[in-house]
Amino acid sequence: MIKGVIFDLDGVLVSTDEMHFEAWKMLAEELGIDKFTKEDNKRQKGVSRMESLEVVLSKGGRIYTATEKEEMAERKNNFYKELLAGLDENAILPGAVDCLKMLRSRGILIGIGSVSKNAPLILARTGLMEYVDKVSCGLDITRSKPDPEVFEVAANKLELKYEECLVVEDSLAGIVAGRAAHMKTLGVGTEYVQLRADYEAPGLNAHIDWETILEV
Ligand code: G6P
Ligand code: MG
Repeated sequence: MIKGVIFDLDGVLVSTDEMHFEAWKMLAEELGIDKFTKEDNKRQKGVSRMESLEVVLSKGGRIYTATEKEEMAERKNNFYKELLAGLDENAILPGAVDCLKMLRSRGILIGIGSVSKNAPLILARTGLMEYVDKVSCGLDITRSKPDPEVFEVAANKLELKYEECLVVEDSLAGIVAGRAAHMKTLGVGTEYVQLRADYEAPGLNAHIDWETILEV
């Protein structure tokens, strides 16, 4: 029986994945990389900032030092934070708040499992923190998805067994991570069919058979 639901943040509860793309595109343009596309951006979903940078750099022809890469990642994060400055509850994806309220009314614990180091800021600015019991984010972990660490940390903080948790994700890396943590998975977002999760829905505003999912 499911006692906790662990949500990814970017692309599941909030539309910040668009801002990540914009910020990486700004960095790519500065570096003279004009081939970085939305398709490339799909490979950045759920993976760490440094791994996401490698996706951008793979579209250019140059080799960079570790120090240069650190500077580039920081530069992207500054672009991203400028975009986040305008963030408020309007960034919450349709159906997210109703879903969180419904789950809490059933006594289900709510966790966040995001590799983003900006997760606490995003939860505060959107007001979503009000509905969240525990946060596991990029500040808590050393390995990003598809490693299960971020979800294991979330379950540990919620004081639940891994098998008692359901993961809600929009990225392939996240679904693989959820499975590796022995958790059931619900795939959402534009790619939800390709994710091959245990359960699927285009978004949290779509029909989801929570009765069945929570009872298993
Ligand atoms: C999320 C996004 C990734 C991003 C990662 C790190 O998982 O889906 O695209 O690279 O967070 O985010 P951060 O805010 O720490 O740079
Ligand atoms: Mg995501």
